Amino acid sequence: MTKPEDVLPPVLPFSPAAERNREAILAVLAGWLAPQAAVLEVASGTGQHAEHFCGARPGWQWQPTEAEPAALPAIAARCARQPGVAAPLPLDVLAAEADTEAWPRRPGGWDAVFCANLIHIAPWPVAPALLQGAARVLAPGGCLVLYGPYRVDGEPLSPGNQAFDADLRDRNPAWGLRRLSAVQEAGQAAGLAFVERVDMPANNLMLRWRLA
Ligand SMILES: C[S@@+](CC[C@H](N)C(=O)[O-])C[C@H]1O[C@@H](n2cnc3c(N)ncnc32)[C@H](O)[C@@H]1O
Repeated sequence: MTKPEDVLPPVLPFSPAAERNREAILAVLAGWLAPQAAVLEVASGTGQHAEHFCGARPGWQWQPTEAEPAALPAIAARCARQPGVAAPLPLDVLAAEADTEAWPRRPGGWDAVFCANLIHIAPWPVAPALLQGAARVLAPGGCLVLYGPYRVDGEPLSPGNQAFDADLRDRNPAWGLRRLSAVQEAGQAAGLAFVERVDMPANNLMLRWRLA
């Protein structure tokens, strides 16, 4: 007998946050990346960003990656109709610290490394590992782009971000919103020059570094 799962497409994991923020992120990325940019994405999650960005910018060559192996088939399924999106690859930036060849490479290096919403939902060492790994695989002059909520010295944390930070720390004491200044120091140590910050909806930031 035919079972429903034989005829219905699988229900893919879905992130409401990614659906909400994708348009605003794309608007900034489109100003930062060349029309034919080759981009390595770290922590692709559900693949919604890869699918949306490459649907809107078919010239981008997008390489999704994920630390969670179970997420890879769903990213592949979601992005199957986007020729600009390559098959997703496994990448845990912490594990890759011990194996510097674990980061996907591209001849000449990646034009950009993009990562949304990782470093506050992970222990602090993930942040320097991300910055150092990105610096190793970027093309000369390539950029690292991070998106997410941050603590900025001298600026009050919004009530929404305060509550989010408390919730993250309840879930895991090693998690929490990162200080922008600490992330900038880690970038400098990795040989990345901080270029700019763009304030995004819902008290998020988009940050850009360039490989010095
Ligand atoms: C909040 S989700 C963000 C997903 C997606 N970037 C987005 O904005 O919708 C965080 C993601 O980071 C991934 N992740 C956690 N630790 C990681 C690590 N050490 N290296 C790479 N990715 C990691 C998780 O598997 C998860 O998919």
